[in-house]
Amino acid sequence: MFKTTRPCGVPQFDEGLDASLAERTQNIFVKTYGCQMNVYDSVKMTELMRPHGYNETSQIEQADLIVLNTCHIREKAAEKVYSEIGRIRQVQAARAEATGRKPLLAIAGCVAQAEGELMVERAPDIDIVLGPLMYHRLPEIVAKRQRQRRAVVETEFPAESKFDHFPTDVATPTAISSFLSIQEGCDKFCSFCVVPYTRGAETSRSVAELINEAKRQVERGAVEITLLGQNVNAYHGEGLDGETADLADLLDALAAIDGLERLRYTTSHPRDMDARLIAQHRDNPKVMPYLHLPVQSGSDKVLQAMNRGYTAEHYLRIIDDLRYARPDIALSSDFIVGFPGETDADFQDTMRLVEAVGFSQCFSFKYSRRPGTPAAGMMKQVHEAVKAERLEALQTLLNQQAQRFNQQSVGTTQPVLVERFGRHAGQMVGRTPHFQSIHFAAAPATMGTIVEVAIEAVTANSLKGQLVAGESSQPADLEEVCA
Ligand code: 5AD
Ligand code: SF4
Repeated sequence: MFKTTRPCGVPQFDEGLDASLAERTQNIFVKTYGCQMNVYDSVKMTELMRPHGYNETSQIEQADLIVLNTCHIREKAAEKVYSEIGRIRQVQAARAEATGRKPLLAIAGCVAQAEGELMVERAPDIDIVLGPLMYHRLPEIVAKRQRQRRAVVETEFPAESKFDHFPTDVATPTAISSFLSIQEGCDKFCSFCVVPYTRGAETSRSVAELINEAKRQVERGAVEITLLGQNVNAYHGEGLDGETADLADLLDALAAIDGLERLRYTTSHPRDMDARLIAQHRDNPKVMPYLHLPVQSGSDKVLQAMNRGYTAEHYLRIIDDLRYARPDIALSSDFIVGFPGETDADFQDTMRLVEAVGFSQCFSFKYSRRPGTPAAGMMKQVHEAVKAERLEALQTLLNQQAQRFNQQSVGTTQPVLVERFGRHAGQMVGRTPHFQSIHFAAAPATMGTIVEVAIEAVTANSLKGQLVAGESSQPADLEEVCA
């Protein structure tokens, strides 16, 4: 059960609330698009609404408040949202007939930030448009919408931090592998990217605040925490001594939390991958041997046009340093093919960089022209067919590398954090330190523990293994976690 105490600092929503609504329990349905930061924000939005009588539902048909938490990173994002709204219209009508009240529809996230008022003009069924820095005001905004006939559009970058307004007394279980947003926004202005415009300037939360939130997550069942930020390794929050702390300091501070066994962080920028942070992979046993470090391209010319601020050689040097610090580290990256001006020779540089590194898994995309970004106006845009050809060649190579990486782990025994039930009876699913998903037979009581699993085979997207008997480390409060 959750406590219903009002979180301090959250706007007093009940005051303006329709009395009939305050009496009955309502449901909130959130659909999340895009990155892990949106996943984190979606969790926070449901937590924010809970003290105001909203329970989370996974059934959109049961919802009184529907939130689409959107992503704007690549093309057609807005179009996808509009067509989803078209489908939701029927759901709203059916619910209105059943309950006498039309469910509210809120569009949150980066599409909301980018489109603002335009969204309501184009889709009048929208009740609320809410930018990613305004979530903390959701209860207040829902109340406002219930009082007025017009839609509410809130997309400015507020002076206060949304993190100061999140509930601190949430008692519901959290994921065994939880997210913790430590930094938001981006000052890098890569020429292809909308993030600096939709998420604003870089801000970092203080170490004290993050230790508190991490401790609460551990009390509620988290064993692993992934630190999130658009530029997570540019983190520079206030330290416990009042001085500025960097990500290495924060990782040290979080590693001291009992019951928190694993730490990861994403997404990093090569420019901020300094020696102190690299040393964490050697010295901090809770920092997992896995790193997502987007390179985007292997061509210095393209990297410069992207405004990435490093060369391919610089990136390879960082990889060498990481492997020196932690020889078994698994590496992942993002790639963009067909950036304006990218020639066949540039693309071959990317293929060579991939060969040189040997990644464990990657994400790769065709360049997508985003209005308002410098690259959108660049000459020599690459033809779609060429982009598609390059993407296929790159993905073939990346898939081979991923297969090879997984194959190499067959025959080894790895400590696996058990995170969820598998689809088959008696099957559990977890992750290796290298972020590989693995299926194996084990008792439900292993949930949330770290067990030793002998890796036996590679399947399409996962590994298969066998529990090594008697090798489980049980957290003391397992029963509470599973309750
Ligand atoms: N086109 C294609 N991919 C993009 N990304 C960001 N902006 C664009 C764009 N305009 C990719 C980058 C980034 C990831 C999150 O999305 O590879 O690292
Ligand atoms: Fe976008 Fe570049 Fe900032 Fe990453 S570093 S969020 S790609 S502008």
